[in-house]
Amino acid sequence: MRNGKVYDRKLTKDITDIILKAAKKAKRETSSEPEPELTKPLKWPIKCLVGPGLEGAISCETKIGYVNGAKGWLIYRGYDIFDLCAYSTFEEVSYLLLHGDLPSRAQLEAFNNKLIQYRHPLETKRMLMSFPIEDMSAMAGLRLGVNLMRLECTVADEEAYKTEHSRVISSDEDSIPMETKPRGEEKAIYEFIEKRKKKKERTAEAARKLPTGIESSYHLISGTASIAAAVARIKQGHLPIEADPKLSHAANFLYMMTGRKPTPQEERVMDIALILHADHGMNASTFAAMVVASTLSDMYLSVGSGIAALTGPLHGGANEEVLYMLKHIGSPENVKPWLAHKIAAKEKIMGFGHRVYKAYDPRARVLGPLSEYLVNTGTDKEAKVLFHTAKTLEKEVLASFGEEKKIFPNVDFYSGIAYSSLGIKPELFTPIFAVSRVAGWTARVQEYLQHNRIFRPRSMYTGRFDLKYVPMEKRGK
Ligand code: SDX
Repeated sequence: MRNGKVYDRKLTKDITDIILKAAKKAKRETSSEPEPELTKPLKWPIKCLVGPGLEGAISCETKIGYVNGAKGWLIYRGYDIFDLCAYSTFEEVSYLLLHGDLPSRAQLEAFNNKLIQYRHPLETKRMLMSFPIEDMSAMAGLRLGVNLMRLECTVADEEAYKTEHSRVISSDEDSIPMETKPRGEEKAIYEFIEKRKKKKERTAEAARKLPTGIESSYHLISGTASIAAAVARIKQGHLPIEADPKLSHAANFLYMMTGRKPTPQEERVMDIALILHADHGMNASTFAAMVVASTLSDMYLSVGSGIAALTGPLHGGANEEVLYMLKHIGSPENVKPWLAHKIAAKEKIMGFGHRVYKAYDPRARVLGPLSEYLVNTGTDKEAKVLFHTAKTLEKEVLASFGEEKKIFPNVDFYSGIAYSSLGIKPELFTPIFAVSRVAGWTARVQEYLQHNRIFRPRSMYTGRFDLKYVPMEKRGK
């Protein structure tokens, strides 16, 4: 898409055909599954069977997205994920998730201009470079960057923490200004900084300025991609690259991350990957973002908690682990012995299984053939070996316990092969997930805040009662 215009589909017709073919296969393979009962508004309080980790718990109503685990269906605001991948763009889908409808041309143009405006967090990138990003994980760098985005654009911190002036009078190169005299020193080797002005009570006015509204969502959807790309560049020892306003969101993200303008096909694959990862029900990172927002914190801090939760290898971090796993297996011939060992050790196989999908993850149904397309049209020999190793592993896992235990490939299984084929390093795979999921996080936070109720589940106390206090001298060793 260029400045709101949908880009030339002729150049990527083969990719659209791959998606439509995957859609047909999905419908064919899931037609025997029972139709999901039509969901309806709830009359709270409700009864639901809840397992550990809130498995099965219904925490709120939503119109944003629907995951049918039995059939392997994924719907955003009523639209089937295969249709959105075949015909839409990440810009349109972000607008759809946030506002509830596909945008008109004028609405898309206005939204895209916002994304262009927010794609240049220069102050944030400058502040980012004063941190040891090269020594941090990419997700930690991304989370830091989102905090710096908050600082750059919120008035709340300025209002509440503005200090007239603060000076460190002197200090040696090792010390840092502290509030206490160093032990053993007669005279402080440094002076106190001027006391920061006491935090002003956050006035209702300042609180209202906390960036929770739609503007912060636009800022985060656009800026998170720029920050993730800047983190990637700094970790590669390069300076960040400024966005090109003529490029689409996906193309700019690839360009700012790799320093190379993508081909129309590469742009389209990234665009589809961003669509696929944008929202997925009440997953751990969306839930984390909503829990933080439900305390009336703010959108940036909520997205920061989403990034933190997504990092874990049981969640978004699995895409990076899958690639290391495939490289460790080394070739299709090694799959069987490797899998036998994993099963014997009762270890989980990254990229497989899902809390909700007990069928093939529809996103893997798209990412599998897309990674095959990239591998077959590319020259990266290692990517070809990785892909064939993955296909063999998929076959063996399904044969070993797929149908019986309902363990299928999930969204993270093939995404890394596609990203590798685009020249992206494994450490950036989970940040790509975050760059997409920020659309779902912000949309769901916005929706939940319309009828906010702080999340506060219970825990069952199974500890002891009526113990008497025992003084130290009477306690055991
Ligand atoms: C994402 O929630 C979302 O929607 C997440 C996500 C999104 O878009 O936000 O879809 C993105 O996080 C995808 C998942 C990425 N994670 C991985 O690929 C890590 C590997 N997967 C597993 O850790 C696991 O499948 C989970 C965490 C994804 C789901 O775990 P559950 O629901 O807690 O399942 P479980 O651990 O209760 O497993 C049930 C059984 C167990 O066997 P038994 O003890 O009953 O004999 O299935 C087995 C598990 O051992 N099992 C696996 C397995 N996943 C489940 N066995 C081997 N390999 C696996 N991957």
